[in-house]
Amino acid sequence: KKMRSIVGWADDEGDGLFCPGGTISNLYSILLARYHFYPEVKTRGMGALPRLAMFTSEHSHYSVKKSAAVLGIGTENVVVVKCDERGKIIPAALETSIATAKEKGLVPFYVNATAGTTVYGAFDPLNAIADICHSHTLWMHVDVSVFFFLCLPQLCATYFCFLFIFCFIFRACSVTWNPHKMMGVPLQCSAILVKKRGLLQECNKLGAQYLFQTDKPYDVSYDTGDKSIQCGRHVDVFKLWLMWKAKGSDGFGSQVNKCLENAEYLYDQLQKRTEFELVFKNKPEHSNVCFWYIPPSLRSLPPGSDRDRRLHQVAPRIKGRMMEKGSVLIGYQPLGTKVNFFRCVFSNPATQQEDIDFLLDEMCKLGADL
Ligand SMILES: *Cc1c(COP(=O)(O)O)cnc(C)c1O
Ligand SMILES: *[C@@H]1O[C@H](CO)[C@@H](O)[C@H](O)[C@H]1NC(C)=O
Repeated sequence: KKMRSIVGWADDEGDGLFCPGGTISNLYSILLARYHFYPEVKTRGMGALPRLAMFTSEHSHYSVKKSAAVLGIGTENVVVVKCDERGKIIPAALETSIATAKEKGLVPFYVNATAGTTVYGAFDPLNAIADICHSHTLWMHVDVSVFFFLCLPQLCATYFCFLFIFCFIFRACSVTWNPHKMMGVPLQCSAILVKKRGLLQECNKLGAQYLFQTDKPYDVSYDTGDKSIQCGRHVDVFKLWLMWKAKGSDGFGSQVNKCLENAEYLYDQLQKRTEFELVFKNKPEHSNVCFWYIPPSLRSLPPGSDRDRRLHQVAPRIKGRMMEKGSVLIGYQPLGTKVNFFRCVFSNPATQQEDIDFLLDEMCKLGADL
């Protein structure tokens, strides 16, 4: 209930469930959306439905396609929508993709937006996407895996821009929120929140009589078991509840602020140091900072395919050396036309500025001869 109120839904709206990870929470959102539009799918299966199409950003986590495969929707029916330079869905491109899918005879039903993409930490324009979903009667899911508490009084000025986007999250039909990301709850702890009350139950209930009797001596609305696609489950909410009791929302908020400050510090350092290049110039909107280490041998090369080819090999080799030495460890990936770059995501509030300096110095040491 508390989580739903943070999303901004009214008191009598919504439901939710803890799931074994964000991927499964996302899967629930698609399952629920499909059931909402086509309840017959539960008994009659996909053969009774038209060919469905779902939409997500080209910066999507791979879990969208995996869910489409699992649910029998098919990965080919996941339409990938173009993003701008900063990794945000372009609303006009979403409109076009919807129209194109309809022309091909597909039936759009689900749009996935993200507040905080996995690689760039980008925030999709939620309000514009909500307008499009509204006009085409589509389910809007928002993946806020990295949802956090914003501690307003302490918030750095840069983050006000995304606060503005954030406040439209209440327009979502469902929300994925992973306390095991930035809030630091031990794995696994992920919630799917659904605006339409009763849907989780209707979609998933089978009413096994040896478990879900309705004549128990207590309020059986606390029996959430039949809302789940699992049977036995962890009590994942307990860790979160305990931490929330101990830290309070302000405690979580200042923890997150620390991570955002660290991201800003890293961004500033990267701008100052000539050995590094940012993947995009804008300030981070989240705690993700994406950058290249440019070894001395590449520094005077002109931009182009030769430099790209060589730069592509730098991050994997430095990471390999990091693993062998055991001093630091951060991930890398290519994305679109960008060759392998490092992605530093801050989620541990104990990280200090000295650690960040160490990280950069260490990369310079490990990459000096490349
Ligand atoms: C981490 C993440 C996921 C997947 O969550 P898991 O709990 O690892 O399954 C999905 N979407 C986004 C945006 C994420 O950051
Ligand atoms: C939604 O998209 C984001 C990235 O844009 C991705 O991380 C997430 O997994 C997607 N979720 C679903 C259910 O499609």
